[in-house]
Amino acid sequence: MKVLVTGGAGYIGSHTTLCLLEEGHNVVVLDNLVNSNLESLRRVQQLSGRSLEFRELDLLNAEAVSNLLAEGNFEAVIHFAGLKAVGESVEQPLRYYQNNIVGTLNLLHGMEAHGVRRLVFSSSATVYGASQDVPLTEKAPLDATNPYGRTKEHIEDILTDLGAADTDWSIALLRYFNPVGAHESGLIGEDPVGVPNNLLPFVAQVAVGRRNKVMVFGDDYPTADGTGVRDYIHVMDLAAGHLAALGYLANRKGVFRWNLGTGRGSSVLEVIEAFGAAVGRPIPYEITGRRPGDSAVSYADPSAALADLSWAAHRDLRQMCQDHWRWQQTNPVGYSSDG
Ligand code: UD1
Repeated sequence: MKVLVTGGAGYIGSHTTLCLLEEGHNVVVLDNLVNSNLESLRRVQQLSGRSLEFRELDLLNAEAVSNLLAEGNFEAVIHFAGLKAVGESVEQPLRYYQNNIVGTLNLLHGMEAHGVRRLVFSSSATVYGASQDVPLTEKAPLDATNPYGRTKEHIEDILTDLGAADTDWSIALLRYFNPVGAHESGLIGEDPVGVPNNLLPFVAQVAVGRRNKVMVFGDDYPTADGTGVRDYIHVMDLAAGHLAALGYLANRKGVFRWNLGTGRGSSVLEVIEAFGAAVGRPIPYEITGRRPGDSAVSYADPSAALADLSWAAHRDLRQMCQDHWRWQQTNPVGYSSDG
């Protein structure tokens, strides 16, 4: 099938694009490269032995997006493109709403105009907000607590309304838990710009010597060791979830939502220890205060995805850390060659 992947040069997008190519799909990647590097796609093509078409394009350019969809004969779109830094979204809410929501609206208008009505959307477990009962099912109320999370929640609402108004649409909302790891080759992985906000990339940069120690945000949570618990999921398992969702949509109409997580929680200290085991030496850390907005515990009930998509995450924390480390060790400064 011919698939348009927005944000396909990014972390999850590049891993999913690789899986699409390996499954024989034809892929056009649209990306504005604001938070990604074209080198990722060069390596995706190297790994798959297949080529893809790349368009450097911004979803805010409605006319160009529509033109692309007009010429394309696309059967489906997987929509990753978006800004995703929580702290930045608090400082620049208008930029986040403009980029994520208007960009998505432009994409949807183009799809509607040119008869493409199958969409897999990159949502996030962040739509559930903090302090809810775990494990989280898809029925948990939505309550995002920051502008970034609210863009995901609003887009879910827009897509739900669209699916209700026009029953020809097939839409999957995939709520990711905490994506980590890298392709087992170590050739592609996460390449954050600046200081990483998320735990795994930060730990990996400490391990490779780019930072001194991990700051652990709070050890007074009501968890076994006092540190925050999250559902870390290997990016290759996540990528497989997108292909499963795409397959499900092939002969169904409507709007569907699935949690993509492992169903298992790991604490910050467990992650630091597992990463140290992958590296072969302990990772230095220091306990500091809680990060505002963080919840104590978050993990998925992934049983709906198993039942509907026959999908489950297979890779454990050990493998997540090993693969993440292989990528970081062989690419200490990510994709950039100039350091
Ligand atoms: C964060 C975002 C969430 C987003 C997700 C994307 C916040 C409040 N939430 O989720 O909206 O969808 O990333 O992957 O930013 N931690 C440390 N030290 C660090 C970094 C993190 O101790 O340097 C802890 C956190 O307190 C948390 C855990 O590690 O307990 C995971 O943090 P992180 O990777 O940022 O993910 P989330 O907070 O779950």
